[in-house]
Amino acid sequence: MECGKIKKILVMNGPNLNMVGIREPGVYGSETLESINEEIKAYAEGLGLECDFYQSNVEGELVSKIHSVLKDYDGCVLNAGAYTHYSYAIRDAISAVNKPFIEVHMSNVHSREEFRHKSVLSAVCKGVIAGFGKNSYMLGISALKGML
Ligand code: DQA
Repeated sequence: MECGKIKKILVMNGPNLNMVGIREPGVYGSETLESINEEIKAYAEGLGLECDFYQSNVEGELVSKIHSVLKDYDGCVLNAGAYTHYSYAIRDAISAVNKPFIEVHMSNVHSREEFRHKSVLSAVCKGVIAGFGKNSYMLGISALKGML
């Protein structure tokens, strides 16, 4: 029997991910982020995890929310969108917080433009999941659960 406090995770999305469902449906599908988040919540609860969501298009807001993981969460699944490829501020924020982060992408970034092949976040995350659409989030949560 498991005991102790219920683990709490944060699922974070960066710029333009609020546009999923409208934005490039051939790449990101036609479901809205809101509807994907509902599915994610049910999935996380099924694993016995409490799950909060945060989305911002603003780098500094994402940095501040990452800082909050230190005291408010046990770990984080992060799709930083395009910031993945160049935000040293987000990378340093993850480094500053001694909690597990899983980097996720809906699309297979390695089969797309060259600039998407590089992530400045991967080295400070526990692992990376890319290419499985909304299921990338579920896979990320499952991986995170295994290390809590
Ligand atoms: C993304 C991939 C990024 O390259 C892109 O800028 C995004 C979404 C993905 O989920 O596939 O905004 O992180």
